[in-house]
Amino acid sequence: MAQKSESPTNDDDFLLTSGDTASLDLPRLKGTIGPDVIDIRRLYSDLGCFTYDPGFVATASCSSELTYIDGEEGVLLHRGYPIQQLAENSTFTEVAFLLLNGELPNATELSDFESDLKHHSMIHDQLIRLFSGFRRDAHPMAIMVGVVGALSAFYHDSLDINDPQHRMVASYRLIAKMPTIAAMAYKYSIGQPFMYPRNALTYPENFLHMMFSVPTEDYHVSPILAKAIDRIFILHADHEQNASTSTVRLAGSSGANPFACVAAGIACLWGPAHGGANEAVLEMLDEIGSVEKIPEFIDRAKDRDDPFRLMGFGHRVYKNYDPRAAVLRESAYAVLGELGVRNEPLLELAIELERIALEDKYFVERKLFPNVDFYSGIIFRAMGIPVSMFTVLFALARTVGWIAQWQEMIEDPDQRIGRPRQLYTGPTERDYVPPDQRS
Ligand code: SDX
Repeated sequence: MAQKSESPTNDDDFLLTSGDTASLDLPRLKGTIGPDVIDIRRLYSDLGCFTYDPGFVATASCSSELTYIDGEEGVLLHRGYPIQQLAENSTFTEVAFLLLNGELPNATELSDFESDLKHHSMIHDQLIRLFSGFRRDAHPMAIMVGVVGALSAFYHDSLDINDPQHRMVASYRLIAKMPTIAAMAYKYSIGQPFMYPRNALTYPENFLHMMFSVPTEDYHVSPILAKAIDRIFILHADHEQNASTSTVRLAGSSGANPFACVAAGIACLWGPAHGGANEAVLEMLDEIGSVEKIPEFIDRAKDRDDPFRLMGFGHRVYKNYDPRAAVLRESAYAVLGELGVRNEPLLELAIELERIALEDKYFVERKLFPNVDFYSGIIFRAMGIPVSMFTVLFALARTVGWIAQWQEMIEDPDQRIGRPRQLYTGPTERDYVPPDQRS
């Protein structure tokens, strides 16, 4: 693991006044790039008040060396490397090593890392029985939450979060087993036998093998699909302190084991406002159905009284084009072309929907652009992956980020159990009223 650099540097203080009675000098801390932060840890003890920031729009929960996002410029760096360069030149396992260790691996380091992952890719045979407890039509994300959480019932030799060796083994197990569990969730849903991982295959090849091969015949993994799925995994690996990563960090701050923390992250990612959006985008495009109906849905997205939102559009941080969406938009054309899918109507519909939305004042004023979920589903579907598995693939890839962030939190001397406060707006103290005296 990269050694954490010195705590964020201190610069000029920030003077906060509370009404005309008290004021407080608060340290202003600088990172390497990006906005400064105001260290408010003394605020309550010195001024007797809290900050108020529902949804944490302007709150830094931690310092981190993993991922930097500039939402205005549409910049995404992993340990300093631009996402576009990693998507073009790297592999998912190499990006995983980078996020976990801070530097790109040399050939031996990468080979050893990939070998370790391969030798952790099977799951305990008794875990297989857990699947039979689910209905066949269970959403695969429900299965992922259950089975990943259950890993802590099997791997007792990697639960001590204070032991670096335990943390490393648990991290490798989670990264290695997510493709196996994800593919099993798919196979279970279609009533086909589970396929075991094969150590001769690469990480993306193995996933496709476990998803689509059957015992009765040889399966040739398409290099086009393997490259496409590997690139999509890279684009979903980590993304600063998003909702599911914050969930993993908060769960981990109580000392919960990493398997339970990642299960919590999967549960949070499932929401349609977060990772569940890739599934919702396909459902939305299917509902729109034709270019002629786009204006009707754009109007609904702008109507405050209509809960409908343009799925795959908007982002808490990006107020510019999500750089991952830009890569996926280009990949969509390439992958569909390589797969011989000409004029995919959904891609044409998505391109036209994006064009119309980006010319509309409502979206322009609110800086709503396509995000990572807008194009990923179109590629997944062209690859034969069912819509219900889209968020599972997001969770598979994001496990690398969740685990790297969890490791960083455990090793951060500033970190303690997460316990936000509140602005109380309920009743003041009052006495109990016996039932016979109530109106
Ligand atoms: C991911 O945080 C991350 O990094 C997440 C992620 C990652 O890699 O981990 O990038 C992955 O979750 C991407 C986002 C996927 N979700 C969607 O595509 C769902 C649709 N998008 C929205 O629900 C919304 O844009 C959010 C949830 C993504 C962001 O919500 P915010 O930051 O709370 O923004 P907001 O709801 O306050 O919106 C600001 C305004 C509002 O209008 P007004 O009240 O100002 O009139 O923009 C409007 C919103 O109504 N708006 C939309 C919209 N998104 C925001 N209006 C129509 N369609 C949309 N998609």
